[in-house]
Amino acid sequence: MLYYLSVGTPPQLLDRYTELTGRPALPPRWVLGYHQSRWGYETETAVREVAEGFITHDLPLSAIHLDIDCQDGFRAFTINPDNFPKLADFNHDLVARGVHLIAIVNPGVKADRKSELFEEGRAQEVFCKLPNGKLVIAPVWPGLCAFPDFTNPQARHWWSRQYEYLLDLGFTGFWHDMNEPGVFVLWGDPSLPQHSTQHFMEGRGGDHREAHNVYGLLQAEAAYEALSEYKPELRPFIVSRAGWAGLQRYAWTWTGDIETSWSGLRQTIPTVLNLGLSGIPYSGADIGGFKGNPSAELYLRWFQMSTFLPFFRTHSANNVKPRTPWGFGEPTLSIVREFLQLRYRLMPYLYTLAWEANQKGYPLMRPLFWADSTDQDLWDVEDAFLLGDAILVAAIVESGATSRSITLPKGYWYNFWDDTLLEGAKTVNIAAPIEQIPLLVKAGSILPMSVEKQLILHIYAPMSLTSEGRVYSDAGDGYGEWRLDEFYLKRDRHILEITWQQQGNYTFPYTTVQLHFHGIEVQQAWVDTRKVNCQNNCLEVEQFQEVRLQVK
Ligand code: NOJ
Repeated sequence: MLYYLSVGTPPQLLDRYTELTGRPALPPRWVLGYHQSRWGYETETAVREVAEGFITHDLPLSAIHLDIDCQDGFRAFTINPDNFPKLADFNHDLVARGVHLIAIVNPGVKADRKSELFEEGRAQEVFCKLPNGKLVIAPVWPGLCAFPDFTNPQARHWWSRQYEYLLDLGFTGFWHDMNEPGVFVLWGDPSLPQHSTQHFMEGRGGDHREAHNVYGLLQAEAAYEALSEYKPELRPFIVSRAGWAGLQRYAWTWTGDIETSWSGLRQTIPTVLNLGLSGIPYSGADIGGFKGNPSAELYLRWFQMSTFLPFFRTHSANNVKPRTPWGFGEPTLSIVREFLQLRYRLMPYLYTLAWEANQKGYPLMRPLFWADSTDQDLWDVEDAFLLGDAILVAAIVESGATSRSITLPKGYWYNFWDDTLLEGAKTVNIAAPIEQIPLLVKAGSILPMSVEKQLILHIYAPMSLTSEGRVYSDAGDGYGEWRLDEFYLKRDRHILEITWQQQGNYTFPYTTVQLHFHGIEVQQAWVDTRKVNCQNNCLEVEQFQEVRLQVK
């Protein structure tokens, strides 16, 4: 056994830990949008209707996930030609609207002598075997299956070539499911036999006790290779149910088949936080829970919370009602629309956090003690979290709640909804009418948002002398030029100065910038020494070096 010991604050530890296990890959920007999924989209027409519904109801959408229903006999790397006859054309239409189709991929390969995939795998000896040389065979969705041995580089390479069929159809990402690997058993361990399953283990040999935890991780490595080779100019997107230390190099994850209940919603928070603290910054839960029909209230509270989770996806089992925002009627639909729009407005902030995760390993969603690890009270908070350093989300995890209490980290915090100022290091009560989730912004934050081509910097008056904020931008995909816009705030009683420094060669992607001030009243404003008009505490500016304000 090798032990690594590291001492420091949570940010220092994450930096060190991801130096060791790998930095989280920078995802394509669209992946930070909203994903719609369901086990039960049985036909292309059904999926088209869902995609149309998002347009009709004016709801932004970035991806639709296709579960095993789209496959031919639930077999990996197949599409049912009768139910999904024009998938390539459909994909083409969707991509033009900025919507990406994600295909499910399960590792089990149907043990069928008529299947080319099985025969090829058998001939190339890439499947897991028993000590007597026979294949390990176990039942999953398609029936009895063989399992690629992902601890064998040859098997990974063979597997990576299979994605091409789906990539040619226009799928842009993959959803790895059942990859513990999960198998159907009547009793006992629902995976491969621990002692008798033989693995290559990169040449030194071993059994499934050792291979189990790395199985999903190495499958993700194979898919990453497939996507990188198919379109080297694009960043891969993979979401994997199973994983291990280092999964962040290749894939996102989610919390699996979570129960539809208030406790399921509540459990999501520590689970996603702990994944983040374990170096895996991108995860989320099936909005509304997997196994059941949520009430409109539970769905809405889950949706509001998930707006601030890295992976923002609705998914559900095949024996529950279809789950779309319009399925719940009003006022749920309008409230969900507001939250979806807020998520997309927050994109510059989220993307900057994704860049920070890639540089330092910091999770996007952080426990409250991240803000002050010396405050013991914060270590126990499991129903609230930070998104980056600027936003604090106090989730509503109880039926009927219209307010809740929360212990704030030190400093000052503004209520996002009405700009009320709250003092930190205290327990406060915050209103939570059904159309709002308690949301606070740290004083001194520069919260970047955007609407089309306008960058909006929400500046929350600092109580201290200085603070800063930044915005990372690039083409949103690929490996080209980038830029970093850094904004510094300096407050001296009634004078507030904002300076802007820029790094990198990517062209500034916004046509205008709006500075929106919170917690102060702007009386006079100068942009690069030119006196300008400030209305409603907002300044419309172009690129500047310094903005100086006289404030009250
Ligand atoms: C199990 C997964 O966790 C779930 O998300 C999926 O819908 C089902 N398998 C069916 O593929």
